[in-house]
Amino acid sequence: MKKQLFKNIKGLVLAGEDIPALLSGGEMSNVPIIHNAFLALENGEVVAYGPMSEWEGIVDWRDLEVIDADGKFVLPAFCDSHTHTVFAKTREEEFVERIQGLSYEQIALNGGGILNSAKKLQQMEEDLLYDLAVERVTKMIACGTGAIEIKSGYGLSVDAELKMLRVIKRLKSHFSIPIKATLLAAHAFPLEFKDNHRGYIDLIINQIIPAVEKENLADYIDVFCERNYFSPEEMEEILKAGIRAGLKPKVHVNQFSSMGGLEKALELNALTVDHLEVLTENDISALKSGGTLPVFLPGCSHFLSIPFGNALQLLEQNIPFALASDFNPGSTPCYNLFVIWSLACIKMRLTPEQALIALTVNAAAAMELSATHGTISLGKKPGIILTKEIPSLAYIPYSFGETLVEQVYI
Ligand code: NIG
Ligand code: FE
Repeated sequence: MKKQLFKNIKGLVLAGEDIPALLSGGEMSNVPIIHNAFLALENGEVVAYGPMSEWEGIVDWRDLEVIDADGKFVLPAFCDSHTHTVFAKTREEEFVERIQGLSYEQIALNGGGILNSAKKLQQMEEDLLYDLAVERVTKMIACGTGAIEIKSGYGLSVDAELKMLRVIKRLKSHFSIPIKATLLAAHAFPLEFKDNHRGYIDLIINQIIPAVEKENLADYIDVFCERNYFSPEEMEEILKAGIRAGLKPKVHVNQFSSMGGLEKALELNALTVDHLEVLTENDISALKSGGTLPVFLPGCSHFLSIPFGNALQLLEQNIPFALASDFNPGSTPCYNLFVIWSLACIKMRLTPEQALIALTVNAAAAMELSATHGTISLGKKPGIILTKEIPSLAYIPYSFGETLVEQVYI
């Protein structure tokens, strides 16, 4: 058995036994911190923690790896509930085109964007795709991410969607952190179905979903509901087929426009509704009914220079929300949740505490991992971030761009 003791921790963050699985409003400001603390792990499982004055007798010192955390903070690892980590090629040429004045939507209409990624992925062998993804997930973990959701959606054909999901399945067994797989065949209409939406939707419903169900390749079903992509009605039909196959909805809505997709997703009891750069009064009051968790993706807002989601309004209305990276080659080439933490503070005006809750407690809920992740609680295996020596918790998002991780323990 592997036993680890962190001692002299300057600040043990989010350690507690009665932290609710979902926090909202004023609760998001209360991040418990135990100063001058210890934390004991057995095979990664939290077995004891508290102030240093109490460790004696609680922890058996034999065969223990002792980590002196003097001056350092210890946090539960982040959960990243929305990523597109499996892809074939980066798209920096589109980045340059946007600098020169084209919009993300214009680039997509010219055949770039998701279709560009799909073309590259369809041509790549599964093994190479897998190797590239292993490299990325390894870096994400080293950066403090302790659980990852990964979507398909750069396949857009039966074979290529299955190839992507098989890669995600292999990642699940390779890594010891939880990885959730989401079927996003409805990410864009392939060129050959540009004027035949019915044909592609039938392909998803009659071929892709059954094959995914048969091989047990996905946990969730996603649709990109947006003008030029899938309408709310098209989304509804696809989500219902996914639900029949045992997949919970987790959807892309309100990135560029509010067109009724959010309300439809709530009606279908989606686990999460993600993006939400555009939120109307109606959308916000619909979210109040609860049951579905909104997820903001500030890395995407930053990279595409589009509005940041209005998280302050959700805070005011006591609606819980999570933050995720949206890591992908087109709209968010950044997986670093420390950067997302900073952006949430600087651009969405969340306090360091509110943003941290959205990246841990609420983010675990956004991928159904509250029982094991999101807080440092007895019996959980959340993954542990040990920071470098820092003056305070707020110093972490404040010093944006600096990597303050000493080590991540998974
Ligand atoms: O979440 N908005 C839709 N899908 C991705 C971006 C996909 C791409 O540009 O490759 C997102 O931002
Ligand atoms: Fe996304």
